[in-house]
Amino acid sequence: MHKTKDDIIAATAEHVQLLLRGEGSGHDWWHIYRVWHNAKHIAASEPEANTFVVELAALLHDIGDHKFHNGDETVGPRLAKEWLDQFGLPASTVNHVVTIIQEISFKGAGTSSAMSTEEGCIVQDADRLDAIGAVGIARTFAFGGHMSRQLYDPAIEPVLHTSFEAYKASTAPTINHFYEKLLLLKDRMHTKTARKIAEKRHQYMEEFLRKFFAEWEGLE
Ligand code: ADP
Ligand code: NI
Repeated sequence: MHKTKDDIIAATAEHVQLLLRGEGSGHDWWHIYRVWHNAKHIAASEPEANTFVVELAALLHDIGDHKFHNGDETVGPRLAKEWLDQFGLPASTVNHVVTIIQEISFKGAGTSSAMSTEEGCIVQDADRLDAIGAVGIARTFAFGGHMSRQLYDPAIEPVLHTSFEAYKASTAPTINHFYEKLLLLKDRMHTKTARKIAEKRHQYMEEFLRKFFAEWEGLE
């Protein structure tokens, strides 16, 4: 029977939920759920955007993340294409979703992670909102623990990576990630909606870091 767009989104959500349920590094189904909802919220203020593409890309953006496949960036786009190919969608729709997944990842402070379409900008903003603020802090330490990283080492300075390869190869302590990525995100949001939310989440991270370093020295 022919599937409606709503059916395809529901089937995709269920598929991703089964794949990522219980994942322990902050890339679990609930990350996807939050990004999906963020993306729908942002898209509501962008009337030109194709919300079907936005929702599919938000749902499928982390099913084969390079971070968990030895840095291989081709796994995620391939798995997304294999999943979408069953629905008989126009090739342009499938290609658009796959392109967003190829482009979305942060690639280092000194490198570009530009999105080529408005829908891509919305999904990247939605993903980046979940990297900052209270949830962002929690996810970052979950990821650090998952990768056996130290919390902080005052002797290891943050690095503003100028290539994706160098960014991916880093094994720095988790606090460094705030300076290498998270604090840079608010100025890299594409949409007005995300920029406004990012501002508040950014302030919360600044306050967290201030307290972290004060407590490190036993000052508070
Ligand atoms: P992206 O594709 O832009 O990397 P993801 O949705 O895959 O975005 O999630 C990235 C999140 O994973 C970061 O925001 C952070 O919470 C965590 N993470 C990634 N790399 C590191 C790192 N080196 N140290 C700590 N956390 C990290
Ligand atoms: Ni993500």
